[in-house]
Amino acid sequence: MRLFLDSANIDEIEEAFEEYYPVLSGLTTNPTFFYREGIISIDSFFEQIGDIPIGELHVEAMGDTCDKIVEQCDKLNELNHHYRSNVDDSIAYKIPFSLHGLQAVENLNTFAQNIKTNVHLIYSVNQAFLALAAGATYVCPLMGRYDDIGSDSLTLIDEINSILGNGSILAASIRHPSHVKSLLLKNVGNITVPYKVLKLMMDHPLTERGILEFNEHESR
Ligand code: G3P
Repeated sequence: MRLFLDSANIDEIEEAFEEYYPVLSGLTTNPTFFYREGIISIDSFFEQIGDIPIGELHVEAMGDTCDKIVEQCDKLNELNHHYRSNVDDSIAYKIPFSLHGLQAVENLNTFAQNIKTNVHLIYSVNQAFLALAAGATYVCPLMGRYDDIGSDSLTLIDEINSILGNGSILAASIRHPSHVKSLLLKNVGNITVPYKVLKLMMDHPLTERGILEFNEHESR
């Protein structure tokens, strides 16, 4: 199982990968995160994160045709190689679920080497199946957004798990640690969490009380 940070906030990203490096495998972003952070140029984002030891970086490749998505992936690949020199710092192309998006996944797998694709905005088993059939590395169901409309994201995860296996799921739109716990108990292979949730995952009052007690007794 791998844990990712879901953010485009540079300060959060710097702090999270400086502090939580033992547990983080990478970073996931999306265009709305960039908009909220006022990041208008993807080039400047890569320049700002280039030296942060992020690991696997997931960035959206938008486009209304297969060719435009592939062109965007080529640009992201160049930026990744230019600004992120560590050979382990791979990139995964987040592609919103659509027919031309699936065409782009197949195209990338056919004409490029060691490509990672993350088919995003998955909300049904059928979509997850089609994404995997096209050759997606990851399928990305958004739990919080699915719950927000009164649906049950954990049932969706069970359904996807039952037909695709857990390795290819990258669960996103996580709202709280109980989402994470449910996913871990379902052996979901990849989970991306906001920084707030990552920090909450660390906490338990009994742990805090135990450390206070140990410190008190040790100092006697
Ligand atoms: O883009 C992936 C997902 O984590 C964003 O979900 O609900 O935080 O907008 P949300």
